[in-house]
Amino acid sequence: MGATEKSRAVGRNVPRKEGLDKVTGAAKYVDDLTFPGMLHGRTIRSTIAAGEIENIHLGFARKGFTIADCRDVPGRNVVALIELDQPCLAERRVRHFAEPILLLAHEDRERLLEAESLVAIDYREETPIYDPEKSDHCFKEIRIEKGDLARGFAEADVVVEGEYRVGLQEQLYIEPNGVIAVPENGGITVYGSLQCPYYVHRALRVLLGLSDDKVRVVQTETGGGFGGKEEYPSMIAGHAAILAWKSRRPVKLVYDRVEDMVATTKRHPGVIRHSTGVTRDGTLTAIKIDVLLDGGAYMTLSPVVLSRGVIHATGPYRCDHVRIQGRVVATNTPPNGAFRGFGAPQTQFAAEVHMERIAETLGIDSVRLREKNAFRPGDTTSTGQKLGRDTSALRVLREAVSRSDFRAKRRAYRGTNRGIGLALFFHGSGFTGGGEVKLASKASLELTETGARILVASTEIGQGTRTMHAQIVADTLGIPYDAVEVAAADTARVPDSGPTVASRTCMVVGKILERCAQEMRRELGGRSAQDYLAERGSLVVTKEYSGPDGLYWDDETYRGDAYGAFGWGCDVIEVERDPETWQIRPTRVTAVCEIGKAIHPVLARGQIEGGTAQAVGYALLEEVAMRDGRMANAQLTNYLVPTTLDTPEIDVTILENPYEHGPFGAKGVGEMPIDGPAPAIVNAIRSLGVDVRSIPATPERILEAPSLSASR
Ligand code: MOS
Repeated sequence: MGATEKSRAVGRNVPRKEGLDKVTGAAKYVDDLTFPGMLHGRTIRSTIAAGEIENIHLGFARKGFTIADCRDVPGRNVVALIELDQPCLAERRVRHFAEPILLLAHEDRERLLEAESLVAIDYREETPIYDPEKSDHCFKEIRIEKGDLARGFAEADVVVEGEYRVGLQEQLYIEPNGVIAVPENGGITVYGSLQCPYYVHRALRVLLGLSDDKVRVVQTETGGGFGGKEEYPSMIAGHAAILAWKSRRPVKLVYDRVEDMVATTKRHPGVIRHSTGVTRDGTLTAIKIDVLLDGGAYMTLSPVVLSRGVIHATGPYRCDHVRIQGRVVATNTPPNGAFRGFGAPQTQFAAEVHMERIAETLGIDSVRLREKNAFRPGDTTSTGQKLGRDTSALRVLREAVSRSDFRAKRRAYRGTNRGIGLALFFHGSGFTGGGEVKLASKASLELTETGARILVASTEIGQGTRTMHAQIVADTLGIPYDAVEVAAADTARVPDSGPTVASRTCMVVGKILERCAQEMRRELGGRSAQDYLAERGSLVVTKEYSGPDGLYWDDETYRGDAYGAFGWGCDVIEVERDPETWQIRPTRVTAVCEIGKAIHPVLARGQIEGGTAQAVGYALLEEVAMRDGRMANAQLTNYLVPTTLDTPEIDVTILENPYEHGPFGAKGVGEMPIDGPAPAIVNAIRSLGVDVRSIPATPERILEAPSLSASR
């Protein structure tokens, strides 16, 4: 079997499967496609945050236009996700600014835009709620209870309390959301920029009232997703499908940047409160955490975001007595949703700034405090999960501290305009709890004349899915990397491998593919592909995910094994401040991640660099200005993300500590790198003497913050 042979593809930087097509321009993104007779679609949206629709005035002649509202939905007017609470098109009520109300389509895009500007809607307005603390609608509440909190506090010498705030963040994939819906074979086919073909497939079945085989979803080459194309494509595909259904013609619906920023999901903002009992020597005795996330107007994936958030809320630290209470509530803003990290960046920001504050309060070295409390193999997490041998918290911490020369620099920078901060973090790979078992994902491998073809619904969104899967299959089969093809993510061709989310594509789907390849190799029994196919005609191996034995999870009590494995990371970040403006410039990042095994070191490094850069924006620059429930800075000129010039030098170290149930030992890498930089940067700003506890840490916010000596 591959793993015991000298591996030829795994661990090497083979060329990306789709790399040549991307650099030559041959790759087709959705906006590159046209179909005969195709119309362009537009979405007319609410201009208020809460109220009822009273009247719609079209204001233009209908000829040549396809116009659709909620009454044109053939099936159920919902975006089917966890709950069926979100209408695909508003009926009477609107619950947020930019809520879709009416759809227009026309052959001529200019005429369409002109018509759009003539539509007027009368509303009866209601008082919106924007403050999650004042919301009376809770989507989900989760409680994690470990040990005896009162006893933990009784054992403490000191109690450190704190409140931490995180803002919204826009995913800002290069390619905006877009789809084309084509009426075909009495059903509908949707081509689109998306992460999860089978999520869209289900949503369309429910919306159109069609059977499985009448709906087909095909992913087109996708220019980034970051979670922003996890659930939202179900909405936009629904809109295009309604217009295509009514007009009997293909309909293209591609957002421009402003519409994408105003209307689609963002990272949940939140307030996280910590109360920690600690002994004088720095041992954590009690941890009490309250997490409040703002879900926006509809549920989307908020309960799952909250779930990952609360499970990661302690940070990678052991403590016998823990209580975590989490809530995600409704407000009258566009729904928040999936974004790389999925709740964990929010809660670990709070955990790591709080850890720094504990060190400040006790007057002890912050590295020693972390060393003392960091998870070791055999420790249990807040849910009672016993950690395995692949627990590398101490290893990444020590490596990052020594590589960055953290201690010496901290001393040297004191009293200067330079600061240095650190954050230790972890990230569970795959769906939470029993999620992977419930998903029962499938993957297939097909024997070809020249090698093998991978059939999975996992999507390539820039992260390297096709390449990494092909490496795993090539080495397991013992064939060259180039002999492995990857089929398009087309629900008419590939089985449901689950969504491309949650850092599961390598560890979970890659593992199923490894098992497919093992079985194919056994079945071939040394025969060549050509001989086998001549003899038997064809060979397709399909496998379903089965979790490692002995994993246990109780969704009622939130006890058990939350994830098959965790990745471990530590970031050290150096910053420089402008003494006049308090503009903070990060100058150097030392990122150390333990990810089990790097299947493709360059791609893995790219994930760490990209996640780090995205988190630098989260920490310092990216401020969604919400005015009256509407994003007021929905343009790249005033929603600032880091450019090359804002991105510091990133020194990446990948450590490997194989996870026995991952393919070739691999765990996930996609999300973890976004967890650490924000707290590391804020801790660096704290080392400059300012008590910052919220992000983005803009100069305005830093100037408002008390100095550390005052707030101690
Ligand atoms: Mo996601 S945030 O695509 O798990």
